[in-house]
Amino acid sequence: MTTYRIALIPGDGIGVPMVDAAWTVLERAGARHGFQLSATRFPWSCDFYRETGAMMPADGIETLRPFDAILLGAVGWPAAVPDAVSLHGLLLPIRKAFRQYANIRPHRLLPGVEGPLRKEGFDILCIRENTEGEYSGAGGRVHVGTPDEVAVETAIFTRVGVERILRFGFEQARARRGKLASVTKSNAQKHTMVFWDEMTTAIAADYPDVEVTPYHIDAMAARMVMAPETLDVVVASNLFGDILTDLGAAIQGGLGFAASANINPDRTAPSMFEPVHGSAPDIAHLGIANPIATIWSGAMMLEHLGEQGAAADVMRAVEAATARGIGTRPGQDRTDAIANAVLQALG
Ligand code: IPM
Ligand code: MN
Repeated sequence: MTTYRIALIPGDGIGVPMVDAAWTVLERAGARHGFQLSATRFPWSCDFYRETGAMMPADGIETLRPFDAILLGAVGWPAAVPDAVSLHGLLLPIRKAFRQYANIRPHRLLPGVEGPLRKEGFDILCIRENTEGEYSGAGGRVHVGTPDEVAVETAIFTRVGVERILRFGFEQARARRGKLASVTKSNAQKHTMVFWDEMTTAIAADYPDVEVTPYHIDAMAARMVMAPETLDVVVASNLFGDILTDLGAAIQGGLGFAASANINPDRTAPSMFEPVHGSAPDIAHLGIANPIATIWSGAMMLEHLGEQGAAADVMRAVEAATARGIGTRPGQDRTDAIANAVLQALG
């Protein structure tokens, strides 16, 4: 029997119960489809930081490298560790070290979920650049704490980085409804974003079957609210994609439904799957967080592992549960009740 080795990093807050809930569903899907998932759990988190002074051990990346995939819950507990420390100590270095340059985030309404827009029928796939751009981390501060203080943070866009994410976006569009929206702000940012636009035009020549439209991010934000049904694949830089995918999560009914996959398309290192939401300290101990975002992310993991049948089954089970109204409204159902409904639908 095929066994996949999965690294579990539940992390902080609701990350822990979300990963536990999703894991029961994924294991069951494996049992039904003739493969095994073997979990190795890593306690890397803000608690770990308080005990050891680091979010993960110095050899954390090398420890993760042999795994087939990583399932992550959430990182961050700002009351104990500043977010800029916890995120730069765990989540962001994994994305970069493993060249998970494509962050894929689907935005559509599950059956039974009423989004805040009074419309249905949109199905957007956001492709977010995930390793460079505004998140490059290049910069610094001088004259700290004085009236002359200066803070600089430089966005870095490389030809390699922009080309590979755009090609990934074109490929996704080709495999779906053939439409690609490329999002920049080239009317204001005349170096990086003009470069991105030029690359889009150049690469489009290789995809005559894909209809590509450039948008400025402000216009895209409005379009995702006013006319999301006109969008298919949306490709954007790291920060723009980050912001647009919270908007995407909102129109699909909330962060409880928003899944994501940090993909290394070259498969030279493991990819990582995580819900878009964070650790949610405000509800972390209430047992009411929605595990659907993590379960859906897990389905994306199964798909990446080549288990398309199992992935589709998990999504069918999620949809069967939400169609019955389970987990469709915030706080209405408990985490375990939602997970159990999905398990039951899975059979
Ligand atoms: C996300 C999150 C992260 C990001 C944070 C926690 C650093 O918001 O995955 O969207 O900005 O990438
Ligand atoms: Mn985000």
